[in-house]
Amino acid sequence: MGENRVAVITGSSSGIGAAMARRFAAEGLRVVVNSAGSEAAGRELAAQLPDAVYVRGDVSDPADARRIVRTAIDTYGRLDVLVNNAGATRFIPLDDLDAVGADTWRDLLDVNVIGVWQMVTAAAPHLRASGAGAVVNVSSVSATRALGSSIPYAVSKAAVNHLTRLLASQLGPEVRVNAIAPGLIDTPWYAEAEEVWESSRDWITANTPLRRVGTPEDVAEAALYLLDAAYTTGDVLTVDGGRHIV
Ligand SMILES: NC(=O)c1ccc[n+]([C@@H]2O[C@H](COP(=O)([O-])OP(=O)(O)OC[C@H]3O[C@@H](n4cnc5c(N)ncnc54)[C@H](OP(=O)(O)O)[C@@H]3O)[C@@H](O)[C@H]2O)c1
Repeated sequence: MGENRVAVITGSSSGIGAAMARRFAAEGLRVVVNSAGSEAAGRELAAQLPDAVYVRGDVSDPADARRIVRTAIDTYGRLDVLVNNAGATRFIPLDDLDAVGADTWRDLLDVNVIGVWQMVTAAAPHLRASGAGAVVNVSSVSATRALGSSIPYAVSKAAVNHLTRLLASQLGPEVRVNAIAPGLIDTPWYAEAEEVWESSRDWITANTPLRRVGTPEDVAEAALYLLDAAYTTGDVLTVDGGRHIV
């Protein structure tokens, strides 16, 4: 892999995004680490990597999205890779329709869909100039199945899948746009939903072909593949240990 490349990874102070930052850095990429809240963790991670910078910013805020991209340009003079990993959810059982109000819809679509849009539109001129621009959007298996932490979350990830296809159709040939659909991955995401985590983990371990939940490193490996998959665009790569076939 050619290495002077610069990657912005949104939501990379924790979990999947942090694993991607470590993995990309190990491959020689320079990395812009980002989060909206956990600044200390983001700064600490950036300091541990060979060549990385941290920028605090909320992807759902248009000015912040532009500033995240500008940090890459001001620091490194280029941008080759954008990973839209930042995500938000609420844990609401799918059958509890009354618990989902318009505010929940707006909050989740703001971060998970409009945030992706704002990051891509801010980054597009630089990704085009890169010569080998790549966007990786982090979706979810809940985008295509009747499962997930809540209905608005699953719908937001379905929108991410289609946004991936539409952006791929418009940003080629200079920029490839793909998505990853993780299954159950062991991250702090479930910190406030211990029961959901435990029952899902037990079910996955008992019933899926690879008999374990995923790690953030499993998802980082898939992202790395998509950075250099030169003839793949508009695709959604499932990383779920085979859950989708059972
Ligand atoms: N874990 C799973 O099982 C799983 C499965 C399928 C898909 N995913 C997706 O994977 C992605 C990463 O999740 P994770 O499991 O790694 O969770 P995580 O450990 O909670 O990490 C989420 C990251 O996103 C940041 N973030 C949240 N809102 C943000 C915003 N508006 N702007 C910028 N950064 C923001 C968080 O930092 P701050 O909160 O401090 O800002 C944190 O760095 C999400 O898109 C999620 O939907 C996860």
